Amino acid sequence: MERIFEVLKKPAVYYSLLIAVLAVVGGAAWAVYQTQIPPEQPINFPHNIHVGLQMQCLYCHPGAWRQASAGLPTQDKCWACHQQLKKYSDPAAIVPLEEWPVELQKLAGYVERNEPIPWVPVAIVPDHVHFNHRPHIAAELACQDCHGDMSKVTVAENPQTMNMGWCITCHQKKTVDDPEKREKLISCETCHY
Ligand code: HEC
Ligand code: HEC
Ligand code: HEC
Ligand code: HEC
Ligand code: HEC
Repeated sequence: MERIFEVLKKPAVYYSLLIAVLAVVGGAAWAVYQTQIPPEQPINFPHNIHVGLQMQCLYCHPGAWRQASAGLPTQDKCWACHQQLKKYSDPAAIVPLEEWPVELQKLAGYVERNEPIPWVPVAIVPDHVHFNHRPHIAAELACQDCHGDMSKVTVAENPQTMNMGWCITCHQKKTVDDPEKREKLISCETCHY
C-alpha cells in the first residue's frame, strides 16, 4: 500500500487521477473511491480481452504457482503473440503501425527500444509482511478469491485492501475445524519476520 500512496502523492499522477475520478463520480465520495482507483499504467492492458480469449492467468503470471511472487509478463512475452496476429503480420492484411490501436503502438515501442514495460504494482503488501502465493494455491484457493474477477477489468485494480484484518479473517475462516493450524496461521511470526 505504501508504494501506491507514494505514487498517488506525485502531483501529476494525483491530479490526473483526481480529474478522472471527478469525471466518473461527479465529485462525490472521493474519499471512499480514493483507495480503489487503479494507478495509471504505461500501457492500458485489457485483462478482459485476454482472459476472455481463455488465456490462463498462469501463462502471464507463472510465479503464482511455484513461488512467492506471481510476476508480470515482459514485453517479449506480449510480442511473441502479438507479432503473429494476422492483421499485423500477414502481408495481405497488414495494417501500418500508425493505424494500430494506440496501446499496441506503445507495446511496439517498448519492444523496439528493448525496454522493460514499467508496470505499476497494485496488489502489494508492505515489505515487513511475508506473503507467498504457493501455499495458497496449494490450498486450492483461486486467483479470484483474492484478486476478484479479472475477466471484468481492463487495467488491474485491487478489489480489496490487502490489510492484516483481511489476511487473518480468512485464516480464521479456513481453520474452524483445526485449532492447531489456526494457532499457526494467526501467529505473528507466520506473516512477520
Ligand atoms: C497469446 C496471445 C496474446 C498475448 C500473450 C498477449 N496478447 Fe494482447 N491481444 C491478443 C489478442 C488476440 C487481442 C485481440 C485482437 C486485437 O485487438 O488485436 C489482444 C488485444 C490486446 C490489446 C487491445 C488492442 C485494441 O484493439 O485496443 C492490447 C492493448 C494488448 N492486447 C496488449 C497486450 C500486452 C501489453 C500484452 C503483454 C502483457 C499482451 N497483449 C499479450 C493476444 C495476446
Ligand atoms: C496476457 C497476459 C495476462 C494474462 C492472461 C493475465 N494477466 Fe494479470 N496482468 C498482466 C499485466 C501486463 C499486468 C500489469 C498491468 C496491470 O496491472 O494492469 C497484470 C496485472 C495483474 C494483477 C495486478 C498485479 C500487480 O502488479 O499488482 C493481478 C492481481 C493480475 N494481473 C491477476 C491476473 C489473473 C487472476 C488472471 C487470470 C484470470 C490474469 N491476471 C491474467 C497480464 C496478464
Ligand atoms: C490468498 C490470496 C491470494 C491468492 C489466492 C492469489 N493471490 Fe496474487 N497476490 C496476493 C497478495 C497478498 C499479493 C501482494 C503480494 C506482495 O506484495 O508481495 C498478490 C500479488 C499478485 C500479483 C502482483 C505481482 C507479484 O508478483 O506479486 C500478481 C500478478 C498476482 N498476485 C497474480 C495472482 C494469480 C495469477 C493468482 C492465481 C494463480 C493469484 N495471484 C492468487 C494474494 C493472492
Ligand atoms: C482467502 C483466504 C486467505 C487470504 C485472504 C489469505 N490467506 Fe494465507 N492462507 C490461507 C490458506 C487456506 C492457507 C493454507 C493453510 C494450510 O496450510 O492448509 C494459507 C497459508 C498462509 C501462509 C503459510 C503458512 C505456513 O504453512 O507456513 C502464510 C505465510 C500466509 N498464508 C500469509 C498470508 C498473508 C500475509 C495474507 C494477507 C496478505 C494472507 N495469507 C491472506 C488462506 C488465506
Ligand atoms: C495472516 C497474516 C498476518 C498475521 C498473522 C499478522 N499480521 Fe500483522 N500485518 C499483516 C499485513 C498484511 C500487514 C500490512 C497491512 C496493514 O498494515 O494492515 C500487517 C501489518 C502489521 C503492522 C504494521 C501496521 C502499520 O500500520 O504499518 C504491525 C505492527 C503488525 N502487523 C503486527 C502484528 C502482530 C503483533 C501480530 C500477531 C498478533 C500480527 N501482526 C499478525 C499480516 C499479518
